[in-house]
Amino acid sequence: MTAQNKSWDTPSFAVIDAIVHKHNIEKGSAIPILQEIQETYGYIPLIAIERIGRITGIPDGDIYGTATFYKMFRFEPPGENVIKVCRGTACDLAGAAKIAESINVETSAAEGETSYDRKFTIEKLACLGCCSAAPTLMINDELHSRLTPESVRKVLKKCKCGDEGSA
Ligand code: FES
Repeated sequence: MTAQNKSWDTPSFAVIDAIVHKHNIEKGSAIPILQEIQETYGYIPLIAIERIGRITGIPDGDIYGTATFYKMFRFEPPGENVIKVCRGTACDLAGAAKIAESINVETSAAEGETSYDRKFTIEKLACLGCCSAAPTLMINDELHSRLTPESVRKVLKKCKCGDEGSA
């Protein structure tokens, strides 16, 4: 599922409760529930943590601790486009820092932030699994490889115009 062009739903107890019951979860493992809630809403609403706790009996603090431990979970709605910048060794050696700098200039958002216009959320990953094509990043579900600071600027400009898919 991509963040692009998705208008995220407002969190609802009915939807959250259905997700929790669907997983028929045992005490101690809330990760599949958290993943589905994030797929549904784009982030983990705090009310979801309370509902998971109420239904499963897992203390809220444990659920929150699990969710904050994993970098894949976010607690605010993402921007229209989620950019995952690979900062693994191969990409770092191939210039990932300059790619990140270029993204920062183009979006005014740093890694871990969402741009003011909510067009972009910037995240970083350890490795996208295609090191031979470094440096790489993903915009929503689309991989971009062998990037240069100039090429990433062009891709982002297309995103701003709403035709990222044609990059
Ligand atoms: S380090 Fe970037 S794809 Fe592997």
